[in-house]
Amino acid sequence: MPFTPDSELDLLFPSNLMSPEVKSQLAHSDVHIRPLASTDHGRGHLSVLSVLTVATDLGEAAWVSQFHAMRGAPKTYYGLVIVDKASDRIVGSGTLVIERKFLRGLGSVGHIEDIAVDKQQQGKKLGLRIIQALTHISESSGCYKTILNCSDANVPFYQKCGFEKKENEMAKYA
Ligand code: ACO
Repeated sequence: MPFTPDSELDLLFPSNLMSPEVKSQLAHSDVHIRPLASTDHGRGHLSVLSVLTVATDLGEAAWVSQFHAMRGAPKTYYGLVIVDKASDRIVGSGTLVIERKFLRGLGSVGHIEDIAVDKQQQGKKLGLRIIQALTHISESSGCYKTILNCSDANVPFYQKCGFEKKENEMAKYA
């Protein structure tokens, strides 16, 4: 499939929130970073996410409905993708969720979620670029901190991205 420019896509959030630094770092590469688009189900979004965990495909209509539910919560969901220009397929993905608080003077916290890079493309700094782009959105939106949960195996990756280990993660699965 030919590469689809941002101007022809229905995006989750405005492109001008993408970090200019990350965009210029990728400008002369074979990939492009942009907000998630309403047609990305067909570009392999779920198969990239499946490197992370179970990403059951409930069909394009269900996927698009979730996309619109996220966009309906303004200034909250910032899903972005890295697309291979030659194939127009997604090779990386990540999300920032902005949580509004009453404390810290009605502050906000950025939560980084669901970082995934296609197995064939790992080790090329795409994960780093996704984290830099999401952190840029978090900080430029005024969040006083950006946090995430990860496995012990991924701690060195996030340290290379400038994060430090702090406190513990607790979970209770339904
Ligand atoms: N252990 C040690 N160092 C690592 C690791 C690791 N597991 N992963 C990456 N690094 C290092 C790289 O060597 C590189 O170091 P350098 O700058 O010295 O060369 C640096 O971290 C940046 O690495 P990238 O090339 O950007 O990493 P990549 O594109 O492969 O993405 C990721 C890393 C996202 C963890 C990818 O391997 C992946 O998709 N893994 C499977 C899914 C996953 O575990 N996702 C994270 C879940 S946690 C969450 O979503 C909040």
